[in-house]
Amino acid sequence: MDASDLKLLPPDIAEAAATFEAQLDACGTLDALMRLKGTFTGREHSLAARLMEALKAAPKEQKRELGALANQLKNAWEEGIKGRQEALEAVKRDHAAAASRVDPDLPPPMPLRGALHPLQRLQDRLVGIFAALGFHIEEGPEIETEAHNFDGLNIPGDHPARGSSDTFYLEQHPDLLLRTHTSPVQVRVLRRLAPELEARGGIRFVAPGRVYRKDDIDPTHSPMFHQVEGMLVGKGIGMQHLKGTLEYAMRALFGPATAIRLRPSYFPFVEPGAELDVSCPLCGGKGCRVCKGSGWVELLGAGLIHPNVLHYAGIDPEVWSGFAFGLGVERTAMMVSQTPDLRLFFENDQRFIRQMGGLD
Ligand code: PHE
Repeated sequence: MDASDLKLLPPDIAEAAATFEAQLDACGTLDALMRLKGTFTGREHSLAARLMEALKAAPKEQKRELGALANQLKNAWEEGIKGRQEALEAVKRDHAAAASRVDPDLPPPMPLRGALHPLQRLQDRLVGIFAALGFHIEEGPEIETEAHNFDGLNIPGDHPARGSSDTFYLEQHPDLLLRTHTSPVQVRVLRRLAPELEARGGIRFVAPGRVYRKDDIDPTHSPMFHQVEGMLVGKGIGMQHLKGTLEYAMRALFGPATAIRLRPSYFPFVEPGAELDVSCPLCGGKGCRVCKGSGWVELLGAGLIHPNVLHYAGIDPEVWSGFAFGLGVERTAMMVSQTPDLRLFFENDQRFIRQMGGLD
């Protein structure tokens, strides 16, 4: 075909035909090539399709010549595109092969190392501190009876904590609920060990675990959280033993300069009851954002075991006495790590988890 042949064609088709080779060479990717293919040889509206229409409309005497030219062009376009497609596919294969080639000299990818969750680490650490004082570890079920969660703990039937507004009851078993604290483990252990109490010379244990309350999730609340319960039973046990034990534990946890104070408080299962504050572990008591300027942060509930609790478990409160305490693991973790939002501990974003040094 030469330039004079192209004169037979509509001008835009002639121009496209003249520049086909250049356009083909300019296609650097399969995508670009497919667009070119659509323009030249696509089923509809392509140059080839319009050529066929022009042929139909051509005067009789031109039909032969134009027909031959149209076929020739169409074949040349199809061939050209096919050849280019093969070439581009070959390049793509080469690239893929190069990318997947194994280089035995490269260092291997480092495997991700698993680790214990920060809350678990803090809980283990707390338990370890008391284990060093001879406290053994107890566990109780997360689904509890009302008797263990409330009655055995001297919590009367009309106590607000028993309301279904703060407690998850099991629909099919109205006497079962998700425990609202780890204190029911006190009842279980006291009852179990009551017969051996004299032989053992007393009881001391810690009981870590999950507890549930019907709270909406917000920066400081979650319907599930963790507590560590502690209990000691012996003869002649008083507030001095509670205070000494907790002071030792808080210093082990927050450092030897830590001070504690007990403030009177009320829990039905202790008498007297107290709340324990520690000198703010962040500012050392000078006053900061975490302790809201007071120098102290509230950490746990505690007290001397109420005689009714001992009595319920079959232990004579005239002979035996003791103390108990319960601490929130999340609250402690938030304080130690200055985490303003409890939810971060449950979302398990690895960037957060990795920052949680300092809990052990
Ligand atoms: N069970 C109490 C709570 O969840 C804490 C506590 C435990 C208080 C033991 C006194 C003694 O708030």
